[in-house]
Amino acid sequence: MSLNTPISDWSSQRIWVVGASSGIGLALVQSLVTLGARVAVSARRAEPLQALASASPQHVLALPLNMTENADWDRAWATLKATWQGVDWVVFCAADYTPVRAWELDRDRAAKLIDVNLTGTLRGVATVLPDFLAKGQGGIALVASVAGYMGLPKSLVYGPTKAALINFAESLYLDVKPKGLDVCIINPGFVATPLTAQNDFEMPALMTPEAAAAEIIQGLERGDYEIHFPKRFTRVLRLIRRLPDRLRLAVLARIAKNS
Ligand SMILES: NC(=O)c1ccc[n+]([C@@H]2O[C@H](COP(=O)([O-])OP(=O)(O)OC[C@H]3O[C@@H](n4cnc5c(N)ncnc54)[C@H](OP(=O)(O)O)[C@@H]3O)[C@@H](O)[C@H]2O)c1
Repeated sequence: MSLNTPISDWSSQRIWVVGASSGIGLALVQSLVTLGARVAVSARRAEPLQALASASPQHVLALPLNMTENADWDRAWATLKATWQGVDWVVFCAADYTPVRAWELDRDRAAKLIDVNLTGTLRGVATVLPDFLAKGQGGIALVASVAGYMGLPKSLVYGPTKAALINFAESLYLDVKPKGLDVCIINPGFVATPLTAQNDFEMPALMTPEAAAAEIIQGLERGDYEIHFPKRFTRVLRLIRRLPDRLRLAVLARIAKNS
């Protein structure tokens, strides 16, 4: 049995993709529009959002926002409720990433990244949740990362924000599933986007944003709780995660040495 409500007809769906101006979010929007869904698109940069809306005015609504601003969330949600009477799913895809090793840890930069990736996402969930709960309907999809599975090299600040989202999703699911809501956690491996373009190491099993979007759509259609991909990479990491400390840390130290 599915852990979430499977989606069989995208043309009846209203999806809000936050982090839609590039990478995985942009590819997801393009696929959803092709499938006939109505998609609200958010990010800071208005131009790419407006370009999506101009290309498909019947299907796309541009709602620029900054993850760190409560007022932006309130304004965007009020517009969505007035225009589409709400949404069926929100996909929280926005994030920032900088590779950081221990000797590069900077408290202001760390706080800023946490404010976008973690606090920003919680701001967004807190914005929509009261209406979802009142209706007894609505889905929340959180894009975390395999970097949240365990402490990977160069993920000193980014990794903990994703680990926190994985934990948050589980707590949220326990609370809201009995009230009719859906919660899904999405853990991609490496995807070729502006976010990973700054990586100076060879990324194993690197995939395209379009392939990532297809995985997300299939996972939502199945009603999966966790959507992770590509499997040939994520299965290995999930195995390493389960190793005893001594073995796991030895494997991770080897990876850190080579990256
Ligand atoms: N690429 C990978 O290998 C990979 C792997 C695992 C997980 N992920 C996760 O997948 C998601 C998408 O990442 P991506 O690789 O597609 O990166 P990306 O192309 O850099 O996209 C990031 C998106 O987040 C938005 N964003 C960043 N800061 C924001 C802010 N303060 N307010 C509003 N929007 C903001 C960006 O738009 P603006 O700049 O216009 O605001 C952009 O639309 C992220 O959650 C990332 O952590 C990616």
